[in-house]
Amino acid sequence: MYEKYEVRPLSSKLLKLRGISPRTITEHYKLYEGYVNKVNETREKLQAVDMTKGNATYSEIRALKRGEGFALNGAKLHELYFEQLGGKGGSPSGTLMKAIQTQYGSYDAFLREFRGSGLSGRGWAILAHDWVRNELFVYITDDQQDGHVIQSTPILPMDVYEHAYYIDYGTNRSEYITAFLENLDWSIVNIRYQTSVKRTSPRFRISFS
Ligand SMILES: [Fe+2]
Repeated sequence: MYEKYEVRPLSSKLLKLRGISPRTITEHYKLYEGYVNKVNETREKLQAVDMTKGNATYSEIRALKRGEGFALNGAKLHELYFEQLGGKGGSPSGTLMKAIQTQYGSYDAFLREFRGSGLSGRGWAILAHDWVRNELFVYITDDQQDGHVIQSTPILPMDVYEHAYYIDYGTNRSEYITAFLENLDWSIVNIRYQTSVKRTSPRFRISFS
């Protein structure tokens, strides 16, 4: 049996962001609550489904499993998203800054790729740490469920679905990305990075020889 997925409360600091309105945040938070509820609902329904009736074209199991994965990613990505907002923006420091500079040549080069990815994804642009290769990279997903890269920790997920910015910026996603970066708490991203780096170990390196 799964433990019930509990909704995390909305921090009051998220209602005081610069350039991302309380209305956007409260509407966005409702979507997050919906994902959490669907995690619980799909898992409960899976308990009762006939597992011998699986089918890749259509089956109850397929519908529930696809829904479960979508809802789980929706819940988790939004928890990361909300957690990292409420900061002063600026730029990262310490080991994360060093890693970004090593990976991209400069912080500005990283920002160019991150912003460009944000304009190009239909769902999320995510700075991740690959804990097998011990490197940073940015990937985009067009939906919440598919396109995520294995053996990697999302350390900075940027929601670029229209619901994240349309109320405040209409179609001007670029201005939203600026506001998003201005409200980032890089210390949280740094903690995620350091936690992921601890997972890096030669034992994860696969040898075919
Ligand atoms: Fe969202």
